[in-house]
Amino acid sequence: MLIKNAYIENDKNLSDILIKDGVIKKIARSVPQGGEEVLDLGGKLMIPPYVDSHLHLDTTHSVDYALSKGTLWSGIACWNETKKNLTVSDVRERALRAVRAAVSRGVQHIRTHIDVCAPNTTALEAMLDLKRELRDICNIQIIAFPQEGILSFKDCKARIESALRAGADGIGGIPHYEYTREYSVGSMNYVIDLAVSTGALVDVHCDETDDDSSRGLETLAARALEAGIGERVAASHTTAMHSYSDAYMNRLMRVLIRSGINFVANPLINIHLQGRFDGYPKRRGFTRVKELTEAGLNVSFGQDDVKDPWYPMGNGNMTDVIHMGLHIGHMTTYGEILNSYKFATHNGAKTLCLKGYGIAEGNAASFIVMDAENFFDVVCDKREALYSFNKGKIIARTEAAKRTVYF
Ligand code: FE2
Repeated sequence: MLIKNAYIENDKNLSDILIKDGVIKKIARSVPQGGEEVLDLGGKLMIPPYVDSHLHLDTTHSVDYALSKGTLWSGIACWNETKKNLTVSDVRERALRAVRAAVSRGVQHIRTHIDVCAPNTTALEAMLDLKRELRDICNIQIIAFPQEGILSFKDCKARIESALRAGADGIGGIPHYEYTREYSVGSMNYVIDLAVSTGALVDVHCDETDDDSSRGLETLAARALEAGIGERVAASHTTAMHSYSDAYMNRLMRVLIRSGINFVANPLINIHLQGRFDGYPKRRGFTRVKELTEAGLNVSFGQDDVKDPWYPMGNGNMTDVIHMGLHIGHMTTYGEILNSYKFATHNGAKTLCLKGYGIAEGNAASFIVMDAENFFDVVCDKREALYSFNKGKIIARTEAAKRTVYF
């Protein structure tokens, strides 16, 4: 196929892209037609596929199962009741619904956190099956997520290790939910030691609280640095960082930069969950995306929750996630908005340690076409992904909205 007239990643000039056997063969200002099928985009933006670097697919579409009060703690309590009665078909149906919605909006890579602190392995089994089934449509990475704590939940270590043997890609953690500060430190030591011995990825729900004494991150980063595995370690949420003193941040930044770990912010969920114990003024509870980025650290964005006890809305649309992140992170210059697609594309690919990602000759022909000329207009006008190409095949197609005014 020959795709004509695309603005690749906000380039001001149009390009043609020649695809052969699912691979990008040539990118040039003009590629002559050689009898292939032609798709003329007529001047639309092409970016790499969206990467959702943090999503809970086992809990999705369960908002009506148990009613949450809007805090992280209430969400966990609700899910504790729900997860006792899960079935493989229920988890599968809900997760598939969420993946289909995300894929229809341009997502092709998802890192999902699956709760292993359960009386059964139902959710993990369902997700491992779905991962295999969808591998040519959407790449799903599974993190074994200890929702109730590694040291505070009986047999949790055995459950994580069993999940890795069954096919999970990575190890999670939740230091701010452990019973004690010592357990928090112990859990981070365990996660890094296990990652070193198994080669697994690491993605920790780290300090997702407004409590400025929650400091799981310093142990995670220091141990990742010592082990030399920073590039495959991610710290998700880190919302306590919003409340750290600048003096402590100054000390913390030293180990963060040296470790080179990745960060995942979840703007929709954390603007909803944080500040719930505050009177007025209520803190935003958003990690310091701007400062981390300016320090050269990788920050990607995730949807986190779709219609579950932690967040009643969401549909997997990473443009919505970016839109919220830009607002609460005060990243609203023209250039910041124009380049914000990177939080859910290149930066996400780095967090997930993807290889061969991006629109380049020799890479798989995987990209999305947005209904705009540049990403500034995508964000401002909430434009849709018109096409999603995965290895040269169209896996999702959306008709552009047509609006008419009569004046
Ligand atoms: Fe999460």
